[in-house]
Amino acid sequence: MLEFKNVTFKYLEYDYEMLNDLSFSVEKGEFVSIIGASGCGKSTIFRLINGLEKMQSGEIFINEDSIKNLKNYSAYMPQKDLLFPWRTIGDNLSLPMEIQKIKKSDRENRVLEILKEVGLSDYKDKFPKELSGGMRQRVSFARTLLTGSELLLLDEPFSALDSLTRILMQEWLLEEWKHFNKTILFITHDVEEAIFLSKSIFVIQDNPITHMERIEVPLEYPRSRSSMQKPEIIELKESLISRLRQKVNI
Ligand SMILES: Nc1ncnc2c1ncn2[C@@H]1O[C@H](COP(=O)(O)OP(=O)(O)O)[C@@H](O)[C@H]1O
Ligand SMILES: [Mg+2]
Repeated sequence: MLEFKNVTFKYLEYDYEMLNDLSFSVEKGEFVSIIGASGCGKSTIFRLINGLEKMQSGEIFINEDSIKNLKNYSAYMPQKDLLFPWRTIGDNLSLPMEIQKIKKSDRENRVLEILKEVGLSDYKDKFPKELSGGMRQRVSFARTLLTGSELLLLDEPFSALDSLTRILMQEWLLEEWKHFNKTILFITHDVEEAIFLSKSIFVIQDNPITHMERIEVPLEYPRSRSSMQKPEIIELKESLISRLRQKVNI
């Protein structure tokens, strides 16, 4: 589904490269996380995928087509919901379709449908400030689904939520993933979150990023909280933390 081939990238302002000859791939329908210390270039990888930044060399493929020839192949969900406070939830969701000049009745139908999917049917006419943080992130997720893209790029989407909401949102996200059959690339610096959600985890340990070690999580889906207590999972968690801590200065 997604393939990086020998990608090298450097921001103009800096002398050093963020990515150097990086290759990796993600299969269709997978749930894969990327973990790494803050500032190591995780979000940069997303900016390259969605075309916000241009690599110096190498190529990125989606289903074997270079992204240079493609449009609307990925949808990005940031940490902050970026909802317009003066628009209702329904009107926020409708906005990208208004820009695409989709008919009003079609827009309304799709908004109703998607709100039902994310469990927020009663909130169409509410304003963002009337919703909790978890609900706003569900709206934000609904907006990425409305793009129709197969590849969802979720950039620390739950990191601003309190810990219980965060756990509930992780369980909710796995349900949505199963239901919609999308490919999800999920950035987090939370090792436990990465393990609970993902089939595989890419670990960023070097700088510039020259490779990402891919670690399979030895758990089946559906996942349960109790499986996080298995000895092999606790061991995996500790080994990931010790790999990451080498990169962090406090
Ligand atoms: N648009 C940008 N222009 C220049 N430098 C940037 C830009 N975005 C991020 N950086 C720098 O690149 C490095 C990696 O950033 P980022 O990919 O956001 O890291 P992460 O998501 O892993 O925390 C940081 O040092 C950051 O300051
Ligand atoms: Mg980031």
